[in-house]
Amino acid sequence: MNDPTGPGWHAVEVASTRLEVRVDAAPPHGGRRLWPSVGEYPVYDEFLYYVMLQDEPRNTLFEQAITAHAQGRTVVELGTGPDLLWSTLAAKHGARRVLAVEALEHSAREAARRAAALGPHVSVVHGDATEVELPERGDMCVVELVGAIGGAEGIADAVADAWKRHLRPGAVVVPNRVRTRVAALGARRLLGGEPALHPDVVPYLGEVLRSVGSVFDLRMCLTGLTAADLMTTSDLLEDLDLAADRQHHARRLRLEVTRPGAIDSGVLWLELQCAADQEVLDSLETVTNWMPVLLPFHLSEPVPVTPGDVLHLDVTRRLFDGVHPEWSFTGSIEHADGSVTPVTAESPYADGPFRGSWLHRELLREAAPDTP
Ligand SMILES: C[S@@+](CC[C@H](N)C(=O)[O-])C[C@H]1O[C@@H](n2cnc3c(N)ncnc32)[C@H](O)[C@@H]1O
Repeated sequence: MNDPTGPGWHAVEVASTRLEVRVDAAPPHGGRRLWPSVGEYPVYDEFLYYVMLQDEPRNTLFEQAITAHAQGRTVVELGTGPDLLWSTLAAKHGARRVLAVEALEHSAREAARRAAALGPHVSVVHGDATEVELPERGDMCVVELVGAIGGAEGIADAVADAWKRHLRPGAVVVPNRVRTRVAALGARRLLGGEPALHPDVVPYLGEVLRSVGSVFDLRMCLTGLTAADLMTTSDLLEDLDLAADRQHHARRLRLEVTRPGAIDSGVLWLELQCAADQEVLDSLETVTNWMPVLLPFHLSEPVPVTPGDVLHLDVTRRLFDGVHPEWSFTGSIEHADGSVTPVTAESPYADGPFRGSWLHRELLREAAPDTP
């Protein structure tokens, strides 16, 4: 079954469930590749940290903001990772003191080793940012807990908590603003043929499902999209004004169809700014570790649309574990001819439907029980 080159199915064990995932090692259609959204789960390994280390567009913006503001400040970094990247930069640019927090034990241990080489004014605290006690409040916060959907890794509540417990009034926050946009498109057509994962990616899918202990329709990202693939106007799902400690979460989205075709999914992407006077990183226009996230609708077939049709979606946001948000979408496409097509979608952190969307039905299936 597991032909390493051709299309097929790879097995993944999750608790007592044996899943199969559709795979294909062939070059992706139009350069578009599916990836599970991994950043919001405790599955960071050397490869994922390496991808972030190599993310030039992201790193340039963080570097500019940190080097501009670190001098003389107490810097609190939330989620430093094993490379102690931003804390090291802050220390090298004159930070008076650096307190770096990291939740994963193996990453915190490696970060602490690096901190020791920088001097006694840099220290690493192992624990969750929303739980640890710090010896001093900071006047700068660096927080790369930005998800592919901006808030998916819990940045909104981590920064709200930091303003209460870890920061002084007027502190600089990097990034200062993270917005997530949403539009609709025809993803099945863009993927061409049958959607499949590259076999190298399947272990991450297994890690994500095992980290929460359940089988569900996990978030899938799609690389290689451009603004030209969108079939509607966009709207804002969330606007996290981290510097001002303000969050806006949309309750209703309105997407106007801009060209004829068939839609089957939403797509969510980031607009990130590290400082108010800085350019915006748009994750739909830029190749970065933040890949656009698909929101496959619970439909059996793509819905034909024409300009004049409008997709309305009511949004429900809830926190799965007090930290990680999940979203449900319910609404309809109001067609210009007066007809209406109901639309629902889910973007869960854990649990939720299994094979509820067209995409998950094509990618995942439960393995048949072994025959004796
Ligand atoms: C996206 S990575 C960023 C790593 C590094 N700062 C960088 O920018 O390359 C997020 C890191 O934050 C850690 N993390 C996630 N949630 C956290 C939390 N609530 N408290 C502390 N660390 C957290 C993860 O384990 C991971 O190492």
